[in-house]
Amino acid sequence: MNIIFLGPPGAGKGTQSKRLEARYGIAQISTGDMLRAEVKAGSDIGREAKSLMDAGKLVPDTIIVSMLESRIQQPDCAKGFILDGFPRTVAQAEALDVVLARLSRKIDVVLMLEVDEDALADRIAGRFSCAKCGASYNDVSKPTQVAETCDLCGSHEFTRRADDNRQTVTSRLTAYRNETLPLLPYYEEKVMVAFIDGMAPIDEVSGQIDSTMTEVEKLTQK
Ligand code: AP5
Repeated sequence: MNIIFLGPPGAGKGTQSKRLEARYGIAQISTGDMLRAEVKAGSDIGREAKSLMDAGKLVPDTIIVSMLESRIQQPDCAKGFILDGFPRTVAQAEALDVVLARLSRKIDVVLMLEVDEDALADRIAGRFSCAKCGASYNDVSKPTQVAETCDLCGSHEFTRRADDNRQTVTSRLTAYRNETLPLLPYYEEKVMVAFIDGMAPIDEVSGQIDSTMTEVEKLTQK
């Protein structure tokens, strides 16, 4: 099963992709995480990407497409993959079509997470994650069960992303509206697009996605 997650910054793409990865045993591919790893490693790509990411702007398509192309050919993607944060421009979607055709693969469903823009800045400003295992939390909607202790690994160290601030959210939303939203008509012409209410509580959003996936599985088995 090959899935694309669409939705604005803070919609819950990462949260839901990780759950899908665990449930279906298919690989979550977050281009944002890949870029942050490059920044941390101090690579050439990381140096080029950092200032753009910090300003809430998109990284050039050429960099992203070549990163993505090699990633989906790795063994953990053989059973399927979840694209979280890619494609983000029509040019990236067209490049993905070419790569998938060459690999004789296709996208089975696009999951579009719909949210009120007013909620996004609060969600993003409240996000933090465990510095040791990467588990994701939120000051308001998903705090740790014991104060300052990771539920999963017990670590007391947490991090916040450099681009998670209210100023950057405005530019990230502008980039989303101008460059990523045109992907919706692009995919509606080609594949099944399922609209998910991303304003519901996290578990309910997962429930909607599970029902959609059951439908997609039935259709792909026909
Ligand atoms: P990226 O890392 O992809 O960030 P993003 O798209 O802005 O998305 P986020 O990670 O902020 O949000 P999300 O939808 O995953 O939400 P999450 O689940 O964490 O990209 C960062 C940057 O990298 C870009 O700005 C760009 O510069 C560059 N980049 C990446 N890919 C690129 C590409 N393809 N091309 C060019 N440049 C690229 O949830 C957010 C918070 O809300 C969490 O705290 C969570 O707990 C909470 N939450 C989630 N769901 C709910 C809910 N239902 N109710 C209440 N709270 C919720």
